Amino acid sequence: MQSFYSKPTDFHPKNLHCVLGIETSCDETGIALYHGQKGLIAHSLYSQIDLHNQYGGVVPELASRDHILKVLPLLQETLANAQLTLSAIDGIAYCAGPGLAGALLVGATFGRSLGWALGIPTLGVHHMEAHLLAPMLEEHPPEFPFIALLVSGGHTLLAQVNDIGDYQILGRSLDDAVGEAFDKTAKLLGLNYPGGPAIAALAEQGQAKQYTFPRPMVNRPDCDFSFSGLKTFVSTTLKNSDQTPQTKANIAHEFQAAVTDTLVIKAMRALKQTGLNRLVIAGGVAANTWLRKELADMATKHGFTLYYPRPSFCTDNGAMIAYLGYRRLNLGQSDNLGIKTMARYPLDQLD
Ligand SMILES: Nc1ncnc2c1ncn2[C@@H]1O[C@H](COP(=O)(O)OP(=O)(O)OP(=O)(O)O)[C@@H](O)[C@H]1O
Ligand SMILES: [Mg+2]
Repeated sequence: MQSFYSKPTDFHPKNLHCVLGIETSCDETGIALYHGQKGLIAHSLYSQIDLHNQYGGVVPELASRDHILKVLPLLQETLANAQLTLSAIDGIAYCAGPGLAGALLVGATFGRSLGWALGIPTLGVHHMEAHLLAPMLEEHPPEFPFIALLVSGGHTLLAQVNDIGDYQILGRSLDDAVGEAFDKTAKLLGLNYPGGPAIAALAEQGQAKQYTFPRPMVNRPDCDFSFSGLKTFVSTTLKNSDQTPQTKANIAHEFQAAVTDTLVIKAMRALKQTGLNRLVIAGGVAANTWLRKELADMATKHGFTLYYPRPSFCTDNGAMIAYLGYRRLNLGQSDNLGIKTMARYPLDQLD
């Protein structure tokens, strides 16, 4: 397999201060500037949710076209907010994958070309690695090693994170990602895209314990997940119900509880099996308030520390790309003049 990152070299100096991050892997255009001493100095985000909502999910071609329209104005906005010009940027990181092929190409072409024009080192970085390290942008970042529960629209992983690039996968979803399960279940309940926040809002109106959904695969000794059966369970329950708004809210409540319990049980298992006492949650589903509360209760009860990014850095954003780019560029990693994108690439094969 072609490697995602090139080997560190002495090709460029390893004291870059200000790195531009560009995220265009799916339906959000994100631009950010990360500075070694000052931290995150500016970031801008444009979400295409309204564009895709009418189709019930992301339309890849529309996503690519919209990134083209937004990426330059967002860069100008970010620089203006930071009161900086292009000359302040020492390095550029763009999201090179995984993601939608066309959408990735927009950010990659833009980032690589700008890097060439400015004569500065440029690096394509891994989207899931960026999600994983997003808590590093917060005031109290975790120290290595830690367990990461990565729960997003396309991925569900439990990993032991030893250092940048040193990731051991402990468990993953065998079918639907947890965000995907939220989105598909929301569709069944007649809710808008993206389904996660919509289900969370509906669940607040629901009553607890009106239904009992399975907690999939919790009796197996491993850290793997399966969520597609839960979606079928919702479908069957809904068909056999009166389908009133209150019933739908009760179903949303139990669905969220079943997903949360499953994630909590498996995350606790990963902590126990490895003996680690730091847990990071990241990815779009980590914005879920119920999941955060349940994990926080567990942390208090079992004496581990919980870390997560602010909700806006759980979903896709440029800040996490800029941070990861800053770290890897300063390890001496940068790309040649080729424009690199990889629609799929496993996290544990990076270095
Ligand atoms: N409050 C929430 N509760 C549950 N799920 C949520 C919440 N907010 C967002 N999500 C879910 O998070 C997902 C989006 O997260 P993210 O942007 O990390 O995924 P992605 O970029 O589409 O996928 P990936 O990162 O795996 O390529 C969607 O599936 C969405 O429904
Ligand atoms: Mg993402």
